[in-house]
Amino acid sequence: MLTIHTVAELRLQLGAWRRAGERIAFAPTMGNLHRGHLRLMEQGRQHAERVVASIFVNPLQFGPNEDFDRYPRTLAADQAALEGAGVDLLFAPSVAEMYPQGRDGLTLVRVPGVTEILEGAFRPGHFDGVATVVNILFNLVQPDLALFGEKDYQQLAVIRRMVADLRMPLQVVGVPTERDADGLALSSRNQYLSAAERARAGEIHRSLTTVADALTGGRRDFEAMSQEQRNRLNTIGFDVQYLDVRRPDLGVPQASDTAFVVLVAAKLGNTRLIDNVQVACRPM
Ligand code: PAF
Repeated sequence: MLTIHTVAELRLQLGAWRRAGERIAFAPTMGNLHRGHLRLMEQGRQHAERVVASIFVNPLQFGPNEDFDRYPRTLAADQAALEGAGVDLLFAPSVAEMYPQGRDGLTLVRVPGVTEILEGAFRPGHFDGVATVVNILFNLVQPDLALFGEKDYQQLAVIRRMVADLRMPLQVVGVPTERDADGLALSSRNQYLSAAERARAGEIHRSLTTVADALTGGRRDFEAMSQEQRNRLNTIGFDVQYLDVRRPDLGVPQASDTAFVVLVAAKLGNTRLIDNVQVACRPM
């Protein structure tokens, strides 16, 4: 596996593959890779001759009081994992390489609507940072397809919308969430949890599946069902920011709908966890 840190070298290598007619799958990450990330690489392998990953902890998508400085940076271990997953090229640029003119006055990509609810309401500017860096990475890599985890459901929706609106010539592929045995979705931030917090963290998934089961069982009092689970999680030590039922496109659900997504963000101590489950129901 090649590890490349500069845009010039990246262009040189990708140009050679493209001239040889090879399709390129791309999985952008912030590193500290776990099984969920490796699934993205495996999916990429199935769709393309070449798999490119990036590792870049993007300052643009972190708020002033968030964890940019302490976000785990584990390049050597990540390189070994990507090598093992059959990745062809890792692009691991510095902040200066990604934003050579600095970040003041940088052109931003903003996807209205879908970025203003749920995560967007609690992390103002976050999705502008994500959309902008993903747009830059797409311009640099020019992949045929790009893979993103469904764990960040809203992020995936934002990227799909950006790709559609800006007519980007690539396919976006969502990859299902990987979970630990107790249901906790794999995330680089899980390692911030203390042992006691980790023992409780699976309760988030239990609340999501409780709502999902109620939906498949025919309940449609969305707000009451959500509030029950917000209360349950808050009572056992979480600080729930949102737990909502939405349509798959994140619109407001209707009783006649047959597909839903239940999304949650909750703090456990200092760690902010997000998760979601998708629910398909029989028509009522
Ligand atoms: O999901 C992530 O790790 C990041 O938001 C992404 C897509 C790599 C953009 O920085």
